[in-house]
Amino acid sequence: MPATKASVVVARTPALIGQHVLIQGWIRTRRDSKGGFSFLEVNDGSSLHGLQIIAEAALPNYTSEVLKLTAGCSVSVEGQITASAGSGQATELKATSVTVHGWADPEQYPLQKKHHSFEVLREWAHLRPRTNTFGALLRIRNCVCRSIHTFFQEEGFLYVHTPIITASDCEGAGAMFRVSTIDPAKPPLAEGKVDYAQDFFGKPTFLTVSGQLEGEACATALGKIYTFGPTFRAENSNTTRHLAEFWMIEPEMAFCDLEGDMDLAERFLRRICGDVLAQCPEDVAFFNERIDKTVLETLKTMSTSSFERMSYTEAVAILEKSGKTFEFPVQWGCDLQSEHERFLAEEHCKKPVILFDYPRALKAFYMRLNDDGKTVRAMDVLAPKVGEIIGGSQREERLDVLEQRMIEQKLNPRDYGWYLDLRRFGTVPHAGFGLGLERLIQFITGMGNIRDVIPFPRTPGSAEF
Ligand code: 4AD
Ligand code: MG
Repeated sequence: MPATKASVVVARTPALIGQHVLIQGWIRTRRDSKGGFSFLEVNDGSSLHGLQIIAEAALPNYTSEVLKLTAGCSVSVEGQITASAGSGQATELKATSVTVHGWADPEQYPLQKKHHSFEVLREWAHLRPRTNTFGALLRIRNCVCRSIHTFFQEEGFLYVHTPIITASDCEGAGAMFRVSTIDPAKPPLAEGKVDYAQDFFGKPTFLTVSGQLEGEACATALGKIYTFGPTFRAENSNTTRHLAEFWMIEPEMAFCDLEGDMDLAERFLRRICGDVLAQCPEDVAFFNERIDKTVLETLKTMSTSSFERMSYTEAVAILEKSGKTFEFPVQWGCDLQSEHERFLAEEHCKKPVILFDYPRALKAFYMRLNDDGKTVRAMDVLAPKVGEIIGGSQREERLDVLEQRMIEQKLNPRDYGWYLDLRRFGTVPHAGFGLGLERLIQFITGMGNIRDVIPFPRTPGSAEF
């Protein structure tokens, strides 16, 4: 009878002692004992630690194959799980057969036991999932994604899909990737310019920078919705916090104001951090030990305590009084830079802080204008180490004010006819936010560079793999 397949994470538990199982994965190390047998460490991605295999000389392929196994070789191993006498593991597997599927020439396989820098590993993005750091990272990323869906489903939100190809620029910032089937070598022209009327969609189209506008259309019918999808920004910013392609989660709630929005953001982040702590303890411990000594403490604080909240105006006053010299000087009306955001979260509040009521000139056209006429109902969640992880707002639900704000920001209300319809017909107060998945993962793991928290990063000048 063929043995039942077990994952390494399960095979490492004492409950499996005595069972005959099949393990499939990749060799991390091989040690040969003088006693005429070898220790193999096999990892299959199910846990940080591998399973120790005892391969005895009596195996028919011991000399011909087992003794030639090196890091990266793929194997199927059958045998019995026994209690391990060694430290660091409860169980090990006594092999009755070892089948080699693929060799990994040690002269050529780059992932040998020695340490590689993250810069170097980025060049091997196709192999880095096999390292401890990226295995742990991808398991935490998966846990976060599951937690996001569970949280919203439990709170009664409907998951909706918004388009990836769009003709409208949600953030009004103009940093978008064009989607076109026009032959760049001989584009159709009209009055000396490319004639996009002859393009695939009959008009200029782009990869979306946010699903919010379409999300609002769904929320103003279904009440509470969220989107979770790829998002594209063609900003030429080569920083440790920007990607050209990232994943954004955008909840949108009808009959909700900015307070409700901030409350949701807090509950949401608290839940995710709690789930990661509960479901990925080994991986969290790994990041705490190897990457950033504050990871565990931060997650514990995040999952239990409430965030600080202050207005933009208060924040600017604190920055001005801080006595710090910033590279970019602060005054009311300025866009806060990452150094300011980090000072507020890391040094002043020592925990995440939500800033609200930003100057109208700094924020997108759709944010609700306050009665002071100077500020809008925007909110940003700033986290220690990373800065902004969430950007959101109460939306402008008054048709006339919204049209005015579009004109002010040099947008043509006629291009947003369908969006204005949401105010023309049954308008309601509503609010939402966008969470950058990768920024959150950076915050949770302490990883310094956003390129190292997504399997295949897209950044200016780089779209390998
Ligand atoms: O603040 P942003 O631009 O907000 C919006 O797009 C709104 N439409 C969201 C909404 O209200 N529904 O972006 C939201 C978040 C940021 O706080 C940041 O975490 C992330 O998206 N983000 C990026 N992450 C990685 N690389 C980039 N280039 C990012 N730009 C934004
Ligand atoms: Mg923002």
